[in-house]
Amino acid sequence: MTPFNRKHILSTKDLEVSEVEEILASAKSFKEVLSRDIKKVPPLRGKTVINLFFEDSTRTKTSFEIAGKTLSADVINISKGGSSVSKGETLLDTARTLEAMGPNILVVRSKQSGLPLRLSQALHCSVINAGDGFHEHPTQALLDLYTILEQRPTVAGLRVAIVGDIAHSRVARSNIYLLKKMGAELVLVGPGSLLPKEVEDFGVTATSDLLEGIRSADVIMVLRIQRERLGLPFFPSNQEYSHFFGIDREKLKLCKKDVLILHPGPVNRGIEISPDVADGSHSLILDQVANGVALRMALLYLLAK
Ligand code: CP
Repeated sequence: MTPFNRKHILSTKDLEVSEVEEILASAKSFKEVLSRDIKKVPPLRGKTVINLFFEDSTRTKTSFEIAGKTLSADVINISKGGSSVSKGETLLDTARTLEAMGPNILVVRSKQSGLPLRLSQALHCSVINAGDGFHEHPTQALLDLYTILEQRPTVAGLRVAIVGDIAHSRVARSNIYLLKKMGAELVLVGPGSLLPKEVEDFGVTATSDLLEGIRSADVIMVLRIQRERLGLPFFPSNQEYSHFFGIDREKLKLCKKDVLILHPGPVNRGIEISPDVADGSHSLILDQVANGVALRMALLYLLAK
């Protein structure tokens, strides 16, 4: 295996399979660290991580903070509100200003697709994409893969149905690139207005027939409607969406007995997933959240070493 020498994590599209395997192996060892009574370990002592979140987040921001602190890094959190972006400073100038203070890693979330790539070209420190617009959310896809692999020996040959607002979902895009690379068979499921135009480019299948998409799936990845990215409504009502595309107990009965249910969160209960399915025995939603810390520890460690 070639040593991990990547400077940035910007997308899953450009990751090699061997790099993915090294990230997952590292996350597994950090998951063991997180199971100890005393979790703090020293690899990032003397290093600084800045979490620069220009868009709201609970899971990603908090797990990067816990990951950095558990690795003994100094972690600084900056949000759009309260920063000089509100006074008209550009995002690039803000990032350059922060870099002048000497961080080792900048973790960036933004509404603008492509901002992490632009920062990686303009700055000297490492950049991690924590979600950029419609584009990618690579750390979410990596933790989703890790979570599936805790339940199954491989994703090669598994049928994964991604259900919901695929067109506006960076999580879907990163998972499509990553899971296909690792050998999974993907089917995208949603109303025609929320399926991406590039289905053929992705090399996956797509359907608006929910049961056709999920009946033989090994994994169902449920997505939230990305209301903050929609202009006009893409479907008549939440009730209608829920009726045709929401995953509930009755639809789950038609699926494989051991199907795994994932959702990146935040969950809109009663719309894309019913509360009993979100909290039920098939659901790995909280495992995904827990694994996010170990996976992000792995990424910080591999970039900083
Ligand atoms: N899955 C995800 O990115 O959640 P947050 O927006 O809470 O970070």
